[in-house]
Amino acid sequence: MTGWDVTADLVVVGSGVAGLTAALNAAEAGLRVVVVTKDAADAGSTRWAQGGVAVVLGDVPGDTVDAHAADTLAAGGGLNDAGAVAAIVAGGPAAVQRLRGRGALFDARGARLDRTREGGHSAFRVVHAGGDATGAEIERALVEAARSLTILTGHVAVDALKDPSGRVAGLAVLDDAGRPGVLRAPAVLLATGGYGQLYASTTNPGTSTGDGVALALRAGAAAADLEFVQFHPTVLYTGPAVGRRPLVTEAVRGEGAVLRDRAGTRFMVGRHPLADLAPRDVVAAAITRRMAETGADCMYLDATELEGFAARFPTVYASCREAGIDPTREPIPVTPAAHYACGGVVADIDGRTAVPGLYAAGEVARTGLHGANRLASNSLLEGLVVGERAVRAVVADLGLPRTASPELIAPAPAVGVADRGVVQRAMSAFAAIGRDATGLATASDVVEQATLLATPLDRTGVEDAALTLLAQAVLAAAGTRRESRGCHVRTDFPDRDDVWQKESLLVTLDDAGRPVVGTDALAGAA
Ligand code: SIN
Repeated sequence: MTGWDVTADLVVVGSGVAGLTAALNAAEAGLRVVVVTKDAADAGSTRWAQGGVAVVLGDVPGDTVDAHAADTLAAGGGLNDAGAVAAIVAGGPAAVQRLRGRGALFDARGARLDRTREGGHSAFRVVHAGGDATGAEIERALVEAARSLTILTGHVAVDALKDPSGRVAGLAVLDDAGRPGVLRAPAVLLATGGYGQLYASTTNPGTSTGDGVALALRAGAAAADLEFVQFHPTVLYTGPAVGRRPLVTEAVRGEGAVLRDRAGTRFMVGRHPLADLAPRDVVAAAITRRMAETGADCMYLDATELEGFAARFPTVYASCREAGIDPTREPIPVTPAAHYACGGVVADIDGRTAVPGLYAAGEVARTGLHGANRLASNSLLEGLVVGERAVRAVVADLGLPRTASPELIAPAPAVGVADRGVVQRAMSAFAAIGRDATGLATASDVVEQATLLATPLDRTGVEDAALTLLAQAVLAAAGTRRESRGCHVRTDFPDRDDVWQKESLLVTLDDAGRPVVGTDALAGAA
């Protein structure tokens, strides 16, 4: 290895809710922790989260942790891991309490936190901050609490480094001047978020390029449920556009807004018992279908009956006003856009992957909480709970025997890299809501033809390589799952097929670094 060389007990990659929660807990546990983050500390997707954190604090009559777990399972389309659901949901109250102790201020009347409701929830149980700026407040509080920690901003994680026994023992990094270096540590925790940037239109910031999933696959870990890319039903529509689009939180519907088509008809009524508050996959698919049926570019979210819209939803209000829309007087034009990766690196609820020394928490991980479709506001919850649990696992595992100052081994430096615009266009055209075998094969061919072998030398190169690998993996998994379930909607296999396939699809890399899809049970994968 060349360049700079730093030693720590734990390297955390990513500085969102999972990464900073883990880093703070690690520091409290006495570990030397280094956080690596490729942009500013608060530039990731956490700060864009609007709705809130789903959690049962015991003060909402009739609501229970079991009801929260049942809603999570109902939304997840039969692919959740019930044990993971029970443990993560049950861990919410204590994790939210510690987050408040770290300075996060939630909206409250007196001592009691306010609650809102979102799609798929049977109760008002979502705590929020700044009206609809929950992620921004959580990120602010965590960055502030972590100001004495070592956070290497503008540093890009390239590859996990292993010792000769195959255990992760460090991380290859490009620093903020593009110089290669090494962080030596017996534990590396990935908290890099998702891969919304696989699509041309997304609620995710530019940092969400799947780097952690790609790095874990290259390190020999498995990924699962990658085909379940969740599209948020209501993203502000201002004409065809690429990149991050403004979210219109589901809490707007939770507090009474309804969806209408161009003619003013409420098309969610009769489609699902919860109508406009059906789980997210149902609403996003219904909007997509109605757009196709009516030839419209968008649908409309009618919030004109809501009291105090600007004060309750200041972020959404500002986005609408910027686009020349007054949501208190006219319906908000909305479309679905890529929002959340329900799958990711296979990890248990303590963040352990199949590769010793490599951990994953938050959106990058597939713990089994979300199944085929994540329940709204369970993502910040998972980041908080698993971020904490992963540190307990790291502390426990640090007691295992290991080689002192081992030789570090990196994967082959050359990887497949395609132009991200080509990838995004192909994924948006053929692998969004409503996929079929022909389109998925076309997208695979397009990505294949655009892919060249290269050694990424900077952030853009690392991101493009990750997006290329993720595109190949998502397309392979989506092509294999010949049924419709949750966020995975196949027009050529429109029904759920429980007999044909219930298991999550596992993706690993073959010797040539290409994704291979397997249907092995997940037991033993993490
Ligand atoms: C929203 O506020 O609608 C998004 C929340 C989430 O993705 O869980």
